[in-house]
Amino acid sequence: MSAAETAWWRDAVIYQVYPRSWADGDGDGIGDLPGITSRLPHLAALGVDAVWLSPFYTSPQHDAGYDVADYRDVDPLFGRLEDADALVARAHELGLRVVVDLVPNHTSDEHEWFQAALAAPPGSPERARYIFREGRGDDGSLPPNTLPPNNWQSMFGGTAWERVTEADGSPGQWYLHLFDVTQPDLDWTNPEVGDEMESVLRFWLDRGVDGFRIDVAHGLVKADGLPDGPDDFDATVHPTAWQPMFDQPGVHEVYRRWRRIADEYAATTGQDRLLCAEAWVLPVESLAKYVRPDELHQSFNFAFLMTPWIADELHEAIHEGLAAVAEVGAPQTWVLSNHDVVRHASRLGYPQLPGRLRIEGIGADDPQPDAELGLRRARAATALMLALPGSAYLYQGEELGLPEATQLPDDVRQDPTWERSGHTSRGRDGCRVPMPWTADGPAMGFGPGGTPWLPQPESYRALAVDQQDGVAGSTLELYRTLLRVRRERGLGLGGLRWLDSGPDALTFELTGDHTAPTVVLVNLGETAVPVPDGLVPLVASGPLDDDGRAVPTDTTVWLSPA
Ligand code: NOJ
Ligand code: MG
Repeated sequence: MSAAETAWWRDAVIYQVYPRSWADGDGDGIGDLPGITSRLPHLAALGVDAVWLSPFYTSPQHDAGYDVADYRDVDPLFGRLEDADALVARAHELGLRVVVDLVPNHTSDEHEWFQAALAAPPGSPERARYIFREGRGDDGSLPPNTLPPNNWQSMFGGTAWERVTEADGSPGQWYLHLFDVTQPDLDWTNPEVGDEMESVLRFWLDRGVDGFRIDVAHGLVKADGLPDGPDDFDATVHPTAWQPMFDQPGVHEVYRRWRRIADEYAATTGQDRLLCAEAWVLPVESLAKYVRPDELHQSFNFAFLMTPWIADELHEAIHEGLAAVAEVGAPQTWVLSNHDVVRHASRLGYPQLPGRLRIEGIGADDPQPDAELGLRRARAATALMLALPGSAYLYQGEELGLPEATQLPDDVRQDPTWERSGHTSRGRDGCRVPMPWTADGPAMGFGPGGTPWLPQPESYRALAVDQQDGVAGSTLELYRTLLRVRRERGLGLGGLRWLDSGPDALTFELTGDHTAPTVVLVNLGETAVPVPDGLVPLVASGPLDDDGRAVPTDTTVWLSPA
């Protein structure tokens, strides 16, 4: 195979660690880098290729670190820069690659650039790094500059504009924030912004990281003139239609520039570096543009994540996802859970209706998911995902089958969405609850003491790592087996050919020179499906019936020719 075909990321399984919730080294109730380093052997034993860390940089933590005040340092909450170096070194020793998060769309309001912008007058070079504008009047009855410059909405609710007070105390210009008011958007038409982010990329590459996950990758460049969006415009609904702040053509030039940097490091060090886009872009053909040969390597396929547990909808999502990236010669990037969406063990525990699945937070007064059904389907969905050609991302705790924490008291919520939506949207805290490592001990083994920053549901105790380790049939052992068999058979590397199956099942064969012949059968129907003749089970997401010859409802099996 050529170098491009063998690059590690093409079939990599990458495990997302949400630093504040994975392992707490110092016992202050908040996860940290030394805690993560001490737990890395868990990932080596799980059998993943890499770890992606959500932001751990200096930050006031108004959006859990996605509000960066200093891109070149570690927040004291999580440790020091040396702790990041130690983490990277230990991961490499264990054969794990390290991907860090880059947040180029916005900074924190505490970033020195934004502080300088506030202190400087309108029209100054300091303001030109952000998107400051004059407001509008309302046809004459209000004075000019009274209303926000356009109708854009924040992803966390409310207007996306905030008015500042000028140095002389007068009401002043407005600045754009697509997220929290403490996350001002940078102006990517200003070359200084691109130069600074390039320097940040190099800073972390020089420290030995293997790649970046790029936050809001579709948002950097806004439509010229910042026009109003469509009348029924709601930025919080993941878009299918044109939106002036997302997926603008100019964004691709940024990624061509970054690809040249990644290639330069790969060439000089012999280590491939990865760039992965977080881009909520539809349709999949538009998303595929982010992974053209001279742009990024990967882009999460969120259409797959939002597809309900319905055979023909999954068939279509997988088929279209693979076809779109095949056009540009890139592998597909699959994901079922992350720190922004309801965990798939809970998402799939609701009745599955055609269309897109609900991914927003759940409160105690909302209808509750069926935990048993959700876990059964989640295991089947993971076994489906890990068989697909391409790369896959896992989110911390899914290897334990953790459900969403749906009963969090509202007064412990920390996601800015809850406040900004006027308490109408519960936000994302329910998927961010600290990991249970042991059934006993402080904070279920999360740390040596302290109260975890979000309370762990009692149901997490029985799911702790030490309760599943070595236990046949546990979700943890299922993940370990799936990852081992996937690696042994080269499942991520080949192609996929659909086989005939009834309306409520998916059956496909994995093909290719580097893939051992493997058939995957997913039963989404109400009755058991027989294992086709000539095939024997390798691994199944749940018990099989009829001495291994029948696949029950909501079960996935990997099969090999007898
Ligand atoms: C996407 C991140 O995943 C999310 O957690 C964050 O709130 C927004 N981008 C803003 O940075
Ligand atoms: Mg800590």
